[in-house]
Amino acid sequence: MSDAVITGTGLWRPPHVISNAELVASYNAYADLQNAKHAAAIAAGERQPLPHSSVEFIEKASGIRQRYVIEKEGVLDPTRMRPRFAPRRDDELSLMAEIAVAAAQQALAAAGREGSDIDGVLCAAANMQRAYPAMACEIQAALGAKGYAFDMNVACSSATFAIEQAANAVRTGSAKCVLVVNPEITSAHLEWRDRDCHFIFGDVCTAVIVEAAETAKAAERWRIVGTKLATQYSNNIRNNAGFLNRCEDTDPDARDKTFMQEGRKVFKEVVPLAAAHVEQHLASLGLEPTKVRRFWLHQANLGMNQLVVKRLIGRDLTPEVSDEVAPIILGEYANTASAGSIIAFHEHRGGLKAGDVGVICSFGAGYSVGSVVVQRL
Ligand code: COA
Repeated sequence: MSDAVITGTGLWRPPHVISNAELVASYNAYADLQNAKHAAAIAAGERQPLPHSSVEFIEKASGIRQRYVIEKEGVLDPTRMRPRFAPRRDDELSLMAEIAVAAAQQALAAAGREGSDIDGVLCAAANMQRAYPAMACEIQAALGAKGYAFDMNVACSSATFAIEQAANAVRTGSAKCVLVVNPEITSAHLEWRDRDCHFIFGDVCTAVIVEAAETAKAAERWRIVGTKLATQYSNNIRNNAGFLNRCEDTDPDARDKTFMQEGRKVFKEVVPLAAAHVEQHLASLGLEPTKVRRFWLHQANLGMNQLVVKRLIGRDLTPEVSDEVAPIILGEYANTASAGSIIAFHEHRGGLKAGDVGVICSFGAGYSVGSVVVQRL
């Protein structure tokens, strides 16, 4: 069995930023418009007015300061409240494939590889642009990659779950060099008209190259020491958009056809799940959390990461501890679904030396938790 190593990562960042101030101004204008439209029903007590959102609440409750988006005008237009994407012809590269290729090219360059060296492509993300053909097949063709390609979705854990599939493929010899790519166009599944969650997500795409250790070329290599995946069914994060919708004669714009969550319950239930998962995974490898040099955690909420770190290593996530042990990228990027822990790994793995161990960990809808223990070679 070959050892599997990570040899390169890539990050594609969208061109537009929405600050919390811009987001709140647009939401509040939307709420005012709705309240004016329904003034009679509100006055008759038949309907509650929509309250305003607030920058202070968002920053305190989540730690998010801004988010990147592919398209900004449509999101901020109080009469629209969703991005505006131009449809593309079937013979044009699709939007998801375009951002995937951009992130993949960076990861390939870091790994000293070309598209034709790839013999497995896993497109792993919380949403796919279409039912078929698989996004991964389009990405494979655009890169000139060989072998096979498939899509997979485990919501926010898609990347870690895909890394395990890539590592297993390399270990068993069914592929030699696998691209895992996470195009997260979260602006299209977010309900920008819902004050409870309109601040949560941002768009981004990450990519990781996983290959056989003996043929890897990159100077910087991370051995995949072990992976551990777990799921436990929960309805607390849910999105009912799907191919049966039109047969059910339901409204495609109904609230349940975009991201919904019971944020409090998610917070309470997922923190212990994630911390115990990582602890058990490390123990199974004969490792202790306090000996881990860095945790690249899922990025959904600052408070969740503070609690996970406290449970794992007993330390408060002060800015110093964050820089050294558990980097936070949430303030700049917001929640980018499966890409969050990979952005943290991509941007904050400097300073670790040969032999140092780190953990990439995701948690989210499903529920799902995935951990990837890596060692710098
Ligand atoms: N602006 C101002 N006030 C707001 C608001 C906003 N945008 N959104 C909610 N509020 C209000 C609520 O109405 C509520 O008011 P009340 O106490 O009068 O009822 C209060 O603030 C608290 O709301 P709540 O939803 O309980 O906030 P919270 O502290 O749980 O924070 C989240 C909300 C979403 C930030 C937090 O629960 C979270 O991040 N959970 C984990 C989510 C997660 O990881 N999801 C995974 C996604 S993949």
